Amino acid sequence: MIHKHDLVIVGAGLAGLRAAVETSGDYNVAVISKLFPTRSHSGAAQGGIAAALGNEEKDTIDWHIFDTVKGSDYLGDQDAIYQMCNEAPDAIYELEHLGVPFSRTKEGKIAQRKFGGHTKEIKDENGNTKRVPVLRACYSADRTGHVILHTLYEQCVKRNVHFYSEYFVLSLIMDEGICKGLTALDLRYGEIHTFHSKAVMFGTGGYGRAFRVTSNAYANSGDGVAIAFRAGIPLEDMEFVQFHPTGLYPLGILVTEGARGEGGYLKNKDGERFMKNYAPTVMELAPRDMVTRSIQTEINEGRGIDGKDYVHLDLTHIGAENLKERLPEITGFAKTYAGIDAVTQPIPILPTAHYSMGGIPTNINGNALSDEKGTIVQGFYAAGECSCISVHGANRLGTNSLLDAVVHGRRAGKAILKYLEDAELLPLPKNPEEKDREVFGHLYATTSGENADKIRVRLKEQMTLKCGVFRNESGLKEMLDIVHELEERYKNIHLSHKGKIFNTELMEILELRNLLEFSDAIVTGALERTECRGAHWRTDHPKRDDKKWLQHTFAFKTEKGIELKYKPVTILNHQPQERKY
Ligand code: FUM
Repeated sequence: MIHKHDLVIVGAGLAGLRAAVETSGDYNVAVISKLFPTRSHSGAAQGGIAAALGNEEKDTIDWHIFDTVKGSDYLGDQDAIYQMCNEAPDAIYELEHLGVPFSRTKEGKIAQRKFGGHTKEIKDENGNTKRVPVLRACYSADRTGHVILHTLYEQCVKRNVHFYSEYFVLSLIMDEGICKGLTALDLRYGEIHTFHSKAVMFGTGGYGRAFRVTSNAYANSGDGVAIAFRAGIPLEDMEFVQFHPTGLYPLGILVTEGARGEGGYLKNKDGERFMKNYAPTVMELAPRDMVTRSIQTEINEGRGIDGKDYVHLDLTHIGAENLKERLPEITGFAKTYAGIDAVTQPIPILPTAHYSMGGIPTNINGNALSDEKGTIVQGFYAAGECSCISVHGANRLGTNSLLDAVVHGRRAGKAILKYLEDAELLPLPKNPEEKDREVFGHLYATTSGENADKIRVRLKEQMTLKCGVFRNESGLKEMLDIVHELEERYKNIHLSHKGKIFNTELMEILELRNLLEFSDAIVTGALERTECRGAHWRTDHPKRDDKKWLQHTFAFKTEKGIELKYKPVTILNHQPQERKY
C-alpha cells in the first residue's frame, strides 16, 4: 500500500510533534510511530526544561550558553549552542501558550529549579567570582516531559496531523541522493507500506537500549539512527553516551536529577556526602558525567551500600509535603519498584545509560548531512535525541534535552516549510519495498537458527561492562570483537513465530539488527578516541587532549566495515579550559 504526504515525520516524541505543529497548518503531514504517540519516551523526562527566564532569581542567556559549552567539555558547537540558548525563553513561552501546565511560583510565573551544571556567577567573600547552582529548569512537578508530550499531541490532533501509530519504520527510500519517503511495517497486520513524500524528518529518539542498565524505554533501540546509517548517512559522535547518575537500583529507571535540585544528598556506605571529594563547589549539582564517575568510583572502591553496586540518594530531610508537591512521580517509583518510602528511607541508585549525545549529523536547521564537510541530504531532516547538531558535545546538561527537542523540532519544522514551498513529489524508484521484502522472506522461511534474546542479552551485558562509564583499550577491543561475532550470528537468526498480527518477535529481531548496527559505531569511535572527554572516559588515556581530539567523529558504513573521519568543533567566544566545578 502506498501513502502520499507532503511530509512524513517518524517519531512522536517532543521533536517530532513540535515539527508537526509547525508544519501541519499548511501541508499534509503524517507522523509515524512504533508506539501510540503519548507513550513516546519524551514522556519519561522528569525534572525540567532549561531556559534562562530568571523567574526565581537573576539568570542570563550568556550563563546558560557558557554552562552548556563547559558541560559539553568543549565539544559542543558554539554556534548551535548560542542559537539554542537564545531561542529557549521564546520556546518555553510558546509551550505555555499551547497549554503546558508548568508548576508556578507564588506570583504565578513558571517555576524553576536547580539542575546539575547550570550555574550563575557570584562574588565570594573575598570579591572573587565563582559559579554556583542557579534556578533555571522550568518544570511541572517531576512530570515535565509527560505534560509537554500530551500538550503537543493535543495540538497535533487539533491541526489534523495524520497519525500512523504502531508502524515500525524499515528503510529510507533514497534515490540519487534524495530522500523520497520510507517503508514501514504495519505492526497490527504485518504488512509493509510505502510512504511517498516530499520530505522526511526523523525524531526517533536515542539508543540507550544497547545497555543492560538503562533509564530508556524498551522502544529506544536507536531505530532511526541505524536506518539512516544503512541508507549511507554517517553517524556523528556515537561514542558519547550519557550515563545518568541516579537510576533506581537495580534496573536503572530514572530518578530525576530534580531530586538533587530540590536538595537531595548522595551518600556512600559510611553515610558520607562523597561529592565533597569530587566537586566541592557544586556538590551533588555537578554535571552528570562527573557525578556518575564519582558514584561509580565509590562503588568500585567498595563504598557502595553493603558492598553492593549502589549508593544512596537521600531525600528524607526534604519533608513529606515538599516531596508530594515537587517529586510525586519518583516517590511513587521508589515505592512501586524498590519498596522504599522516600519520605523516611534513602533510595538505592546506580548510574544508568540515559542519553545519546551522538546521532544523525545535522546542521542548525535540521538538514541531515551526508559527510563531515556539511553536504545536505536533500529531503531528509532530523531533530531531537536521534540527531547530533552538536549542542551537547561530550556531555549533555540535564534539562537541555527537552529544550533541544523543542527548539530544533521547531527549527526543522520552519526549514521544512521553506523546502516544501518548491518541493515536488518526485517519482519513486522501482520496487522501493524490495529489500525489506527480501529480509522478511528470509526470516519467515527460517526453520532453525540463532535466538534473538540471547544475542541481545549478550550485547547489552557486555556494552555495560566494556563500553560503560569507564572504558579502556583492551575492553573496547574485546567489545568490538563481540559486536562483530554477534553480527555474524545475527545472519543466522531464527523467527520462530510466523504469524503476521502484532508479531513482536519479528519487531524485536528488527530492533536487534539496529542495536548491533549502531553499537559497532559506538565502540569503533570509543576505541579510536584516546582521551577523556565528558561522558567518554578512557582510564588508559586519563586526560582530555584538545590538540588531537577537539573534533567530532563521523562514522561511515562501508563494505569493509566502519570508517572514521573527523570534523573540527565550532568555537566562538569560549576557548577550551580545564573543566572544574
Ligand atoms: O534527571 C532528569 O530529570 C532528567 C532530565 C534530563 O535528562 O534532561
